[in-house]
Amino acid sequence: MSAEEAAAQQQQQQVGGDPAPAPESQQLQQQQDPPTYRCLVLTGHGGYDKVKLQVKKGLPALAKGDVLVRVKACGLNFADLMARQGLYDRLPPPPVTPGMECSGVLEALGEGVQERRVGDKVLVLHRCGLWQELVAVPANHTFLMPEGMSFEEAAAIPVNYISAYMMLFDFGNLRPHQSVLVHMAAGGVGIAAAQLCKTVEDVTVFGTASASKHEVISQGGVTHAIDYRSRDYVEEVRKLSPKGVDIVLDPLGGSDTQKAFNLLKPMGRVITYGAANLLTGPKKNLLAMAKMWYNQFSISALSLMQSTKGVCGFHLGYLDVESELVSSAMSKLLELYGQGKIEPRVDSTYHFEQVGDAMRRMQERRNIGKVILLPEPKKEEEAKKEEPKSEKTEETKKEEN
Ligand SMILES: NC(=O)c1ccc[n+]([C@@H]2O[C@H](COP(=O)([O-])OP(=O)(O)OC[C@H]3O[C@@H](n4cnc5c(N)ncnc54)[C@H](OP(=O)(O)O)[C@@H]3O)[C@@H](O)[C@H]2O)c1
Repeated sequence: MSAEEAAAQQQQQQVGGDPAPAPESQQLQQQQDPPTYRCLVLTGHGGYDKVKLQVKKGLPALAKGDVLVRVKACGLNFADLMARQGLYDRLPPPPVTPGMECSGVLEALGEGVQERRVGDKVLVLHRCGLWQELVAVPANHTFLMPEGMSFEEAAAIPVNYISAYMMLFDFGNLRPHQSVLVHMAAGGVGIAAAQLCKTVEDVTVFGTASASKHEVISQGGVTHAIDYRSRDYVEEVRKLSPKGVDIVLDPLGGSDTQKAFNLLKPMGRVITYGAANLLTGPKKNLLAMAKMWYNQFSISALSLMQSTKGVCGFHLGYLDVESELVSSAMSKLLELYGQGKIEPRVDSTYHFEQVGDAMRRMQERRNIGKVILLPEPKKEEEAKKEEPKSEKTEETKKEEN
């Protein structure tokens, strides 16, 4: 066990109920000790155990234009599952702290920061490194939280809603009476996309998801929920809409991108933005990678012209230097939140020490909405009340062995 892990364990053991006031000598000692903060670190590529809780000493360094954020909640993204397996190229190699979004309170301002105040509550979008109790980020990567928004809701917004917004409205040019196929419709991006579709008049949403989630997604704006696990979703869409759809959001990749393209009406657009088909369990699957590569969609400019359809690629991770584009999407989203037109759905919250369980929930396709990580240590009484752990699927057991 490393010194940092030992410190983390010691800190976990110290947590529990309201501590009795420390004696004076101990208080003095605490004042002399350097500050510490908890963080999650990806220590290597592989299974759930590769993300470890550690404690860092000191404070994150504030550069010019940075702000120091006391993090209250962080978002878990599908990309974090891929990064753990070494399948996400926007995360530097391990050891590294993942985390692209969080919410929290400003504790200090770096030189030159004018537009923020200590005590401001903010949402944060940053390339990586946010799964920490304290983070230093450029002020223009933070957005003020509106009144009434919880920290959990705030951490559920940046990645999912900005992606869904830019894909539907900037690339997709979604207009009244059009139709959209949303895959992974019960996940973070999927739920955001369905809510955003509802802001446009008479949009038909086809949403694929596991059957147990259909009631929830139908209430959330999906017109036709399709169980892709027991049915051929292409046939189901064609039965309901023989001409196809105007927009497909494609987070799957491989052969599903070709299916998406084929399902488009003339003038339709596919926006490809993920490679979820690569993930078949907690560890990297070389066969799935080979299959994905073999089935990669490709089209010549001439065929594209003749088909009169559009193909776009979207990756928020590559827009990290485009602050204005991202900020403009975020301000529209916060306006929609204020009008009650979008509402993040938090599926579940896990403390940092439970990050493996959080990842497993998403990997085993059990989440409906956003999975949130909390930097604050888990309290003892919570641990006692906790439900027994869910059974691992056969697939997971096989992969872990
Ligand atoms: N390019 C970008 O900028 C960008 C930004 C955000 C997200 N994304 C992509 O968008 C997709 C959704 O991301 P998210 O963060 O919102 O995650 P999410 O949808 O919450 O992911 C979990 C859900 O996806 C479904 N799923 C489908 N295939 C799966 C698989 N192979 N393994 C596990 N679950 C699978 C499962 O639900 P059902 O069984 O009910 O379908 C599962 O509950 C991912 O492909 C992600 O990489 C891309």
